[in-house]
Amino acid sequence: MPKPLRKAVLPVAGLGTRFLPATKQMAKEMLPVVDKPLIQYAVEEARAAGIEQFCFVTGRGKSMLVDQFDVAFELERVLTERNKAKELEALREQALPPGAIVSTRQQVPLGLGHAIWCARNFIQDDPFAILLPDDLMLCDVSCTQQMAEAYQATGGNVVAIEEVPKEHVSRYGVIAPGATQGNLVEVKGLVEKPPVEKAPSNLTVIGRYVLMPEVIGHLSKFEKGAGGEIQLTDSMAKLIGAQPFHGLRYQGRRFDCGDKAGYLEAQVAFALSREDMAPAMQAILKKYA
Ligand code: G1P
Repeated sequence: MPKPLRKAVLPVAGLGTRFLPATKQMAKEMLPVVDKPLIQYAVEEARAAGIEQFCFVTGRGKSMLVDQFDVAFELERVLTERNKAKELEALREQALPPGAIVSTRQQVPLGLGHAIWCARNFIQDDPFAILLPDDLMLCDVSCTQQMAEAYQATGGNVVAIEEVPKEHVSRYGVIAPGATQGNLVEVKGLVEKPPVEKAPSNLTVIGRYVLMPEVIGHLSKFEKGAGGEIQLTDSMAKLIGAQPFHGLRYQGRRFDCGDKAGYLEAQVAFALSREDMAPAMQAILKKYA
């Protein structure tokens, strides 16, 4: 039996320059979709998969992300006094149990691989999930839960994958696929943001991973890759052959909320997916169609 998956690392040090001026004072992971910040969607998705321990890899001005999961006594008191039972319950549900969340600072923006390396003392020798909160998932079964099941079945590394139009491959990590079994594709190679003509496929990695702790040893070498950054993809590639490595065609939809158009689409899709918001959103869409 593979070790149970209980830990998740959330890299949240990015500056969010694509959303300035909204992100001048506020962490981009606090941007709401309907009424919930991106960071909270990621944490809830992970909790639905049995994740109990969280490490936020933050940077300057990002403390509000940890505060979001704290108990807000003043707010709770006001809600109690005003008999706002529903709001109070929602607020209490989102707080994490004491000690469930730690944060560490990346200090310098050296790349995603470096951000994960910063969580090494949290990871220790356990398998761990990575969730990039910019990638917002709309799935019937939590995407991290689907990843956890794939990890339990294969006993090794799993990355969430999807097909993209060939001309978009250079925005992503791309897999060289091997044998396919159901939703699982064997990963034979991984390359970060290849030029279209060098891409091994159009199956790209999205921001959900379950990795074995051995990846940290490779990250510790601080080798620079695409864009001069320490890339997670390069260190993951070194695990291939030594450990099982699969891509999971997850069931659901992904919205790239690091991009304005993707973020706006997420608002529409999430509103339509909610009973309380669908009629209003349908009316809006009709009005502007
Ligand atoms: C990162 C990873 C890339 C992956 C992508 C998914 O890139 O480096 O391999 O495909 O996330 O969102 P970034 O979007 O940070 O440039």
